[in-house]
Amino acid sequence: MSASNIPSPCFVLQEELLEKNLQRIKSIADEAGVEFILAFKGFAMWSAFPLVRQYINGATASSLNEAKLCNDYMNTKSHTYCVAYREEEMDEILKLSSHITFNSLSQLSHYHEKAQKAGVGIGLRINPEFSDVETDLYNPASPSSRLGVTENELKDGLSMPIDGIHTHVLCESSAESLEGLLNAVEQKFGHLLPHIKWLNIGGGHLVTRKNYNVELLVHLLKNFKAKHGVEIILEPGSAFAWETGTLHTSVLDIVERNGVKTAIIDASFTCHMPDCLEMPYRPNLEVGSSDSAKYDYKYRLGGVSCLAGDYLEEYSFPEPLVIGSPIVFKDMIHYTMVKTTTFNGVHHPSIGIAKKGGGFQLIKEFGYEEYRDRLS
Ligand SMILES: Cc1ncc(COP(=O)(O)O)c(C=O)c1O
Repeated sequence: MSASNIPSPCFVLQEELLEKNLQRIKSIADEAGVEFILAFKGFAMWSAFPLVRQYINGATASSLNEAKLCNDYMNTKSHTYCVAYREEEMDEILKLSSHITFNSLSQLSHYHEKAQKAGVGIGLRINPEFSDVETDLYNPASPSSRLGVTENELKDGLSMPIDGIHTHVLCESSAESLEGLLNAVEQKFGHLLPHIKWLNIGGGHLVTRKNYNVELLVHLLKNFKAKHGVEIILEPGSAFAWETGTLHTSVLDIVERNGVKTAIIDASFTCHMPDCLEMPYRPNLEVGSSDSAKYDYKYRLGGVSCLAGDYLEEYSFPEPLVIGSPIVFKDMIHYTMVKTTTFNGVHHPSIGIAKKGGGFQLIKEFGYEEYRDRLS
């Protein structure tokens, strides 16, 4: 790929790396006899869906918009789960969905008859109160979490038939964590298992990470299926787009205040890489290091919005940065792309694909209209 025809800023998906992840996911699905679907909330770059569709058949939607995207660009009905459904959207959601999961007993009872009449598979989200996620912001399984019904809500059983149960409590997790989750599901909700057809074990299975214990995963899934006679669905987002591309930016200015140099880039952490501030985490760079001691030339990386905290503490570089220096952030495809905003009217990164056979395809550039049309 020639860097010269990539605009700045730009998200660049590496087609070959996405395909590698898809191949791995498909081989696990085939070996374990389970279904993997794509969680759009983590990756919704629909220009890549024709490739995605060669390896998987479905997606999970968490809103009417995502359900429409699934029907329009994955050419299939969605597995839909919303934290709460809007009455006026329900008819359309049911038309667009093969499966619908409710987050509470009140939503389940309110929409049960309608969903049943529409012939859509009905699921209930449970909270097994088990998770390996240490950051509260990303932990859906705390005892008072709004996400999913707890064991004690179901101690008198369920008065309405359901087709499946859904749980999502993992995040960038291992097969060992999944084992804990499956044990918690059996322990707390085992009484539901003989009455359902499918178990959706959500996302957070980082099966495309190096050293992920695929053998254990396959073993756990096969065992659970055989023991309980249920279909198993996994709906990761991150695993599909894990380490599949970069965000290319460049330095617009360098300021020095009280001995601290900040390289201001033509992108923004709060607008384009919000997890860097929320989690927080320090992304790796193609050139340069998040370890400020590694190289001689040290700079904070400053976003171009006016938010005071829109910067990352000192990175280090092997050469001094100058205006125009490229700064390429690694692993910026999953979640990063779907969470961008146009706060401050900051220029939104373009979107492009580094093609398998070489060459760069610019998919979309953003201008004033995209900023203007978000509001009125
Ligand atoms: C219900 C649900 N399913 C799937 C996912 C995808 O998770 P991940 O991208 O971590 O695999 C999420 C992430 O928040 C989720 O909330």
